[in-house]
Amino acid sequence: MKQNETYVGSIDQGTTGTRFMVFDHGGAVVANAYEKHEQIYPEPGWVEHDPTEIWENTKSVIQSALAEAGIQADQLAAIGVTNQRETTLLWDADTGKPIHNAIVWQDRRTTNRIERLEKDGRTDDVRAKTGLEPDAYFSATKAEWLLDNSEPIKTQRARPADLRDRAETGEILFGTIDSWLIYNLTGEHITDVTNASRTMLFDIHEMEWDDELCEEFRVPREMLPEVRPSSDDDTYGSTDSDGFLGAEVPVAGALGDQQAALFGQTCFDAGDAKNTYGTGSFFLLNTGEEAVTSEHGLLTTVGFQRSGEPVQYALEGAIFVTGAAIEWLVDMDLIDDAIETENLARSVDSTDGVFMVPAFTGLGAPHWNQRARGTLVGMTRGTRKEHVVRATLESIAFQTRDVAEAMEADSGIEVESLRVDGGAVKNNFLCQLQADILGTDIVRPVVDETTALGSAYAAGLAVDYWETVDELRNNWQVDREFDAGTELGTADVDEKYGRWQDAVSRSLDWAQE
Ligand code: G3P
Repeated sequence: MKQNETYVGSIDQGTTGTRFMVFDHGGAVVANAYEKHEQIYPEPGWVEHDPTEIWENTKSVIQSALAEAGIQADQLAAIGVTNQRETTLLWDADTGKPIHNAIVWQDRRTTNRIERLEKDGRTDDVRAKTGLEPDAYFSATKAEWLLDNSEPIKTQRARPADLRDRAETGEILFGTIDSWLIYNLTGEHITDVTNASRTMLFDIHEMEWDDELCEEFRVPREMLPEVRPSSDDDTYGSTDSDGFLGAEVPVAGALGDQQAALFGQTCFDAGDAKNTYGTGSFFLLNTGEEAVTSEHGLLTTVGFQRSGEPVQYALEGAIFVTGAAIEWLVDMDLIDDAIETENLARSVDSTDGVFMVPAFTGLGAPHWNQRARGTLVGMTRGTRKEHVVRATLESIAFQTRDVAEAMEADSGIEVESLRVDGGAVKNNFLCQLQADILGTDIVRPVVDETTALGSAYAAGLAVDYWETVDELRNNWQVDREFDAGTELGTADVDEKYGRWQDAVSRSLDWAQE
């Protein structure tokens, strides 16, 4: 690395691990380090992360990426943050220590609370303000649960203080993972507009925390972070020169990971769309300055906002389990590594009638069925692991078709070419399958870690490392295009899709109270 060169760093804190990447002015990757963290399952349907482990891993990946690439911290012009969205934690403002493990977006413990909300007839109001389909997925009920159920903290006072009382005085703070990292990096309690839009406490039209929603979920407004643009010319703050980095680096951009991928794919204009294949898959369509209300089970969400510019909205198809279904194949010892799925799936002509619906944590868009559970149907005595592996890959592509159809119905826009990214798009068979099942060409860019790239872009624009979005558009390059209809043909795709929909209907409402 050249000593006088500068770069932009990006922390990508995802569901399974934490990555730090460094990009140069051309958007090329110059450093990359990753560490997994523990998935904690205290009860069926519950998923937690240890926030302290996440922060320790964040420091460690930053240090190892910089060391491996021979980059000094003061060569970073800025740092951006991107994160698994909705995952919620509380911490003590005095000590900076978490009160409890973070409750992860996949966690279903507040299902009953959402059902109560529906019974109380509050669904339409929540939908209208937040653009979200009320679900245990979002942060509001997780924060309520934490305030109700975390152990009271021992203080100097005679009796341990009630958590909610302390939250009302701002002694206990709420945050999603972006806030937690920004707080640890800079000491400031901040979130960005995209992450705020996933809490179910934020009015996406007024662009502010909503008092009625805070009251409904009994979350004191005093504990909520300040909401700032995703790319903030004022910056959120800087790292401490006496801290772990040993340099003062501005932290100037933050986006929820799916919005970051939209930004990294340079989907800056209305009509641009991307699909990211991570733990789940998230299909986002930029709808410009208009917050389009979905009639087909999609979410209306904040896409991004740059300082001094209007908010850009997006329609989102949130699919909870796609890459995690491949992880499940590993956990079940059907395969040793995700990389094997491509050859195994190609080794058979079809799934032989097997369909897999990976509704392990309920179904998100467009079904929103909290009690759906994983279903494997159509097995015979002749079913082999290759069929199950292929059915798992097909389930990823079929779920994407479910949301793509909803997207088209809501927006009237037929996406002709879809930009894809995330770990699973290294699988050429999956990309081809996706093109065939959607009937849409799939375009994979050279940098498939577009989530990290997006938050680097947001931070870099804020500090004028990049001056215009046209520079970013010029950086974007195609790695490979997959044309629709070349492998499966088109003849039996619609018929198979019909069978897929039947399989989905069998997974619905399975879990009992
Ligand atoms: O909404 C959840 C999403 O942000 C998780 O993304 O990449 O960690 O699976 P990922």
